[in-house]
Amino acid sequence: MPLVTSTEMFKKAYDGGYAIGAFNVNNMEIVQGITEACREEKAPVILQVSKGARAYANHTYLVKLVEAAVIECPEIPIVLHLDHGPDFETCKSCIDGGFTSVMIDASSKPFAENIEITRKVVEYAHDHGVVVEAELGTLAGIEDEVKVEHGAASYTRPEEVEEFVSKTGCDSLAIAIGTSHGAYKFTAAQCTRNEKGVLVPPPLRFDVLEEVSKRLPGFPIVLHGSSSVPQEYVKMINSHGGKMPDAVGIPEEQLRHAAELSVCKINIDSDLRLAMTGTIRQFFDEHPDKFDPREYLKPARANIKELVRHKLVDVLGCAGKA
Ligand code: G3H
Ligand code: 13P
Ligand code: ZN
Repeated sequence: MPLVTSTEMFKKAYDGGYAIGAFNVNNMEIVQGITEACREEKAPVILQVSKGARAYANHTYLVKLVEAAVIECPEIPIVLHLDHGPDFETCKSCIDGGFTSVMIDASSKPFAENIEITRKVVEYAHDHGVVVEAELGTLAGIEDEVKVEHGAASYTRPEEVEEFVSKTGCDSLAIAIGTSHGAYKFTAAQCTRNEKGVLVPPPLRFDVLEEVSKRLPGFPIVLHGSSSVPQEYVKMINSHGGKMPDAVGIPEEQLRHAAELSVCKINIDSDLRLAMTGTIRQFFDEHPDKFDPREYLKPARANIKELVRHKLVDVLGCAGKA
């Protein structure tokens, strides 16, 4: 089937108590690892491209890689989504250039300005059959060139969501309930330590999610910054020359719970990067004589595939829903 929008996917996910995985793609091996897992697990999927990904790989290459995945995986619905669109022009360029979904992220702007920019994108997108994700609230962490310090993050204010959605006409809403971008989601000071000395992050604010859902019944909610930062990959990186102390993510049980509620899209990028980097570091450590990129990218792609399979089956609950 051709690329689809997320409209039907979100309706089914909302009613079925699961979420769609939105995975960031930057190169062929990542696209292949994700979509091979989704095809085998019969899971719908959102492949998302950031401004940084477009700068790195080029818009056309990424679109064509995703179109190749559509050809190779005809039985699963695939959305091509712009992640964190910074302005109208970037969104327009993706809408004109084959994307079926865009995010306009004006969450750092004042409320009225966020509404104005989002509404302009929605008008253009809807005229072209494309859906729009918007954001209210600010996550900590790094996305593209924007770095938000942990103390500067702010939870979504539920009392603002109805006005925002009705005035903008957006199709889904990303909210801030304590997730954070990157592999260092929380400072050690924000966490407690369990008996094994492992950092335990503060729990997500489900009270905020529930209040938002009460005000927007049936409306799809999105969680960014939802990597779990698997400690097996952090250890693999650290034991093969890397240095990632205190990298910590969102516990998977909490993401599973969010998926049972109104969260229909869960964004995962850092976990893919950790799997790829850990695998390649280990490969070079064990095979210092090797230099063929196919030899180290092959196990990296395989580990991305297994990581995505685990997310689909055990976290998102979307396996078998294609
Ligand atoms: O939220 C941001 C995504 O992880 C994309 O990251 O801007 O480094 O491509 P990037
Ligand atoms: P992570 O850094 O937690 O993977 O979040 C990715 C994301 O939100 C992409 O928009
Ligand atoms: Zn994000």
